[in-house]
Amino acid sequence: AAVADEAVPLERLLRHPSVALSEGPPRHPRVKRPGDLFGARPNSRGVEFGERAALAALVAARDAAPALPDVPAVDPNAAMARAEAAFPGWNATPVARRAAILRRAADALEAGSGRFMAAIQEEGFRTLDDALSELREAVDFCRFYADEAVRLGTPASLPGPVGESNVLSLSGRGVFLAISPWNFPLAIFLGQVAAALVAGNAVVAKPAPQTPRIAGLAAAVLHEAGLPQDALVLVPGGPDVGAALVAHPAVAGIAFTGSTATARAINRALAAKDGPIVPLIAETGGLNAMVVDATALPEQVTDDVLTSAFRSAGQRCSALRLLCVQAEAADRMLAMIAGAARELRLGDPRDPATHVGPLIDAEAKARIEAWLATLPDGAREVFRHPAAEPAAFLAPRIVALRRVEDLNREIFGPVLHVVRWRGAEEAALLRALAGTGYGLTLGVQSRRAGFAARVAAAVPAGNVYVNRNMVGAVVGSQPFGGQGLSGTGPKAGGPHYLPRFMVERVITVNT
Ligand code: NAD
Ligand code: ALA
Repeated sequence: AAVADEAVPLERLLRHPSVALSEGPPRHPRVKRPGDLFGARPNSRGVEFGERAALAALVAARDAAPALPDVPAVDPNAAMARAEAAFPGWNATPVARRAAILRRAADALEAGSGRFMAAIQEEGFRTLDDALSELREAVDFCRFYADEAVRLGTPASLPGPVGESNVLSLSGRGVFLAISPWNFPLAIFLGQVAAALVAGNAVVAKPAPQTPRIAGLAAAVLHEAGLPQDALVLVPGGPDVGAALVAHPAVAGIAFTGSTATARAINRALAAKDGPIVPLIAETGGLNAMVVDATALPEQVTDDVLTSAFRSAGQRCSALRLLCVQAEAADRMLAMIAGAARELRLGDPRDPATHVGPLIDAEAKARIEAWLATLPDGAREVFRHPAAEPAAFLAPRIVALRRVEDLNREIFGPVLHVVRWRGAEEAALLRALAGTGYGLTLGVQSRRAGFAARVAAAVPAGNVYVNRNMVGAVVGSQPFGGQGLSGTGPKAGGPHYLPRFMVERVITVNT
């Protein structure tokens, strides 16, 4: 439990009985098996469909799933024309009917869990645990945005002078472009699309080139749930197709999730366009730190670092990249973290025992290897998991850096960077972290309540996690998204998300 800041001398906290539990060999006895994570937290509606008891049935259903069908190529201009034609009818559809389609889609995702997990694993190479939690998030997004649309869909009467009525209403903007990454091929694709649709927009969606077939399956679920065919048009392809869509004159808004560099490219393309000003919702990368002081519980830190840095092979925008640990406790904590990391099992992501699967492709691995081969001066690898690294596998690593500034880009994989800091350097450390310009997730581990508050106040971040891991934001409970180089907001799965997909209008009548 947190204790009053500075009220207890540091030495006494370090002798706290629960700290003593962590004495012993630098091997962590409590590495979570995948089964321990399943259903550990309820989704935003309190439904646990990831219970252990259901796991065997889910795996059987997954293994019986048919192969994913291919997605046909679609001309970007034709897609835009179809969506443009569909927009007025869809926008005029009562919000309750639009919401009901999302709820039916959520039901279908739950009913077909095995099939969707198979798809996530076949094309996205995600572990069973990740596939399950991603599916749960996709279901949550559909239901949450359905509820939100109904909440926002009732026009509001606003106060005004006697003899006038003022009514504020929200509706769709037009054709929204949804551009998504491969690392949550179902949940992010569907989250963007569901929000844009239920807000009244027609949608042209371009999934990542690595994961088009999962997107095809998700689009089919929406169409089967009653969505008019042309209200959602899927356009598979890579950056060139994305750029062609961005440049199209009928685009009324863009929801983009991906790298900061691509968001900048889209921003530049929009700035060069004639016609209406097009809003861009960009959710981008992070240089996420966890700040650990000497009072933190080593077991807790170890569990949370492992989950944050190495779950999903580090391929989460929220993942921990930079562990900043107070020097007095660093040797012991790093020994425990390395000991626990050695226990992680790399392997076939479909195997329930696997903790860490491969990276998405060989290019992703090559980018990280290039970073590791040219580390900044004074940096060195202090731990490497002993597993072999065939194909796109990359064994988890820990790299010691001299200072925060040495990590100058997002390394999108299982590489944990570590810097040590001394008590007197706290303010400088927090300034350096704020100075990265990113602001996605931030972790703090401490038993001094005031320390966590100081770190959170000094370092910009959209999602701050105190004494827990930094990944797996729950829809409706932990709205997710960053600031600065990490994104424009609004936060996905939060109460301010849908309005950004809408236009507002006030009708004033002289009564
Ligand atoms: P990416 O930027 O390479 O690609 C994302 C999407 O943009 C893909 O569909 C791609 O084809 C498309 N694209 C690329 N260039 C384009 C252009 N010029 N115009 C239009 N579209 C273009 O990112 P990625 O490798 O697919 O995903 C990983 C990145 O996504 C990481 O940086 C990660 O941090 C970030 N991410 C952020 C969040 C978040 O919520 N903040 C969530 C997941 C992933
Ligand atoms: N929303 C995802 C997470 O919190 C990226 O890990």
